[in-house]
Amino acid sequence: MAVITLDPARSAGTISKNIYGHFSEHLGRCIYQGLYVGEDSPIPNVRGIRTDAVEALRKIAVPVLRWPGGCFADEYHWRDGIGPKADRRRMVNTNWGGVVEDNSFGTHEFMDLCEQVGCDAYINANVGSGTVREMAEWIEYMNSDGDSTVVRERRANGRQDSWGVRYWGIGNESWGCGGNMRPEYYADVYKRYQTFCRTYGENRPFRIACGASDFNYRWTEVLMREAAGFMDGLSVHYYTLCGDTWDKKGSATDFTPEDYYKTLKKASRMDELLCGHDAVMTRYDPEKRVGLIVDEWGAWYDVEPGTNPGFLYQQNTMRDAMIAALTLNIFNRHCDRVVMANLAQTVNVLQSVLLTEGARTVLTPTYHVFDLYRAHQGGREVGCYVTTGRAGTEAWSLDQISASASQKDGVLTVTAANLDAEAPAGLRITGFRAARISARALSGEMHQKNDFDAYPLAVRELSASLDENGDAVLTLPACSVAEITLA
Ligand code: AHR
Repeated sequence: MAVITLDPARSAGTISKNIYGHFSEHLGRCIYQGLYVGEDSPIPNVRGIRTDAVEALRKIAVPVLRWPGGCFADEYHWRDGIGPKADRRRMVNTNWGGVVEDNSFGTHEFMDLCEQVGCDAYINANVGSGTVREMAEWIEYMNSDGDSTVVRERRANGRQDSWGVRYWGIGNESWGCGGNMRPEYYADVYKRYQTFCRTYGENRPFRIACGASDFNYRWTEVLMREAAGFMDGLSVHYYTLCGDTWDKKGSATDFTPEDYYKTLKKASRMDELLCGHDAVMTRYDPEKRVGLIVDEWGAWYDVEPGTNPGFLYQQNTMRDAMIAALTLNIFNRHCDRVVMANLAQTVNVLQSVLLTEGARTVLTPTYHVFDLYRAHQGGREVGCYVTTGRAGTEAWSLDQISASASQKDGVLTVTAANLDAEAPAGLRITGFRAARISARALSGEMHQKNDFDAYPLAVRELSASLDENGDAVLTLPACSVAEITLA
């Protein structure tokens, strides 16, 4: 039997709700069709924004949404996306599929989406092909209430009051699609741009510097050495591939047990990655003032056969639910440094929480994990020590149980995943004398998915009991994710 020992006296701190953030790029069918269908669409919408998507995202309490990219951000000129739609500039989305971007979804539409969902906006500004003035005026357009020409323009476009956007990213993947810069060069560019992230009223922008890819600790080192004092956050991107190269990332749905464990093992390296970047950051920032922002993460497979390779559309199985569960547990445990994370990407792109086909929408297994983990948002992380056997194969072996815990309003929430594809796991949770218990879980065979025709996966009640010591006793089905609530 696996044992989770809780130590409420030990805590890494408060779990920022923004760890449960999402990312929506102008890529494939994420924005257009996935979130925005236009006012004239027969698909139910409010000012063009899909009602079913908004309802689903509200239900998992999405706290923050990153936009407009991604690689797209460094080719995006915000002025192209304001004013009368008929007059908006058209461009070709050279990063993603070469399709025409008509800019019908721009700043006002994105902020409308955030307001409908009830989340904060995280805007990624264009450094690669933009200018300091362009970024500075975007901030002014969104955050100022002064009587400037830029603010008058916003008002003429229908928005009287400023939106007060707090989170600003300065470039995306500036080491790659955002400009192929060296960290030394980017650090200087970053310092220049951030100088013009002006404060309007009470709203001082939270400045996020573009961070490393994967295990590139040198990038983090240079950025922290040169610019730590000028930033509030530093990002990092980490994608989980099943295959060994970007040409052969592996299928989202057709995989062997060996592939399953290999993918989970690679996802579990998020822990090593966070430890590594945190160690570098701590040398320059021992107080942990600068937050680590994992603003792109998730599984990245070969696209679904027959779909546009530039659209990055992939299905989502129980394997992805396990990736989400173990990654979110890792984030919770690193909440002293990780203050935001954004799953890539919300709808129809990479590890989505929603898939759409015309008017139909599917909640993916990953969606249900975000539902099960909702209670951690803003909770106080609780020390959580897991004694567990191993799961996997000789080559790809990992702890069978992944878990994290938090406490909020007298309620203790444990989330636990049984990563074993075949074997259930008996589980005891000790260290917190509970009087009441309830549990919910998502479970299924590792290949199972929700599709437009068949919808087998949903969160269901899980039987759990308390023994005479107030310890929780339950069985986690094979390949399952559970939320256990103790009060
Ligand atoms: O999420 C897809 C792409 O992955 C993003 O545009 C880019 O930032 C990353 O390489």
